[in-house]
Amino acid sequence: MISKKMEEALNEQVNAELYSAYLYLSMESYFKAQNLNGFANWMRIQTQEEVMHATKIYDFINERGGRVLLKAIEGPQTEWDSALAVFKATYEHEQKVTGLINDLVDLAIKEKDHATNSFLQWFVNEQVEEESTADEIVQQLKMMENAPGGMFMFDRELGQRVFTPPATEGK
Ligand code: FEO
Repeated sequence: MISKKMEEALNEQVNAELYSAYLYLSMESYFKAQNLNGFANWMRIQTQEEVMHATKIYDFINERGGRVLLKAIEGPQTEWDSALAVFKATYEHEQKVTGLINDLVDLAIKEKDHATNSFLQWFVNEQVEEESTADEIVQQLKMMENAPGGMFMFDRELGQRVFTPPATEGK
């Protein structure tokens, strides 16, 4: 059985992951409006990953005898100045999420909740990837600032991204 405090904190994280999905869907819409369909595809996959993160926590709360209580999701930003600005915002957002995951781990340790701590380690590792992928794209876009022709090729490259659910999905 999960403690009330841990249950509430995990519920907050479900909301944060769904907000992330909402933010990336908004970024997809921005790219669609710019006719950058590869960038839009990348954001669609990112959205799917965030929904998977949210449902993973949702399932865990239920598995531990807790109750999921969904709250309102905040409206995301809708406009950015450039593709670079979008990916800088993505990188900053993922750093924020890493902080939230770390806070959850701290709470699990404080509560001696080893099961939740173990469950959260998947997210700790996932955040390393989330941050590094976003940062890599920021760096690539910076290099393209003076060579706009590269954007066409990069858009095609980002269009190749596909959603692959993890093998350990749900556990
Ligand atoms: Fe669910 Fe992008 O962290």
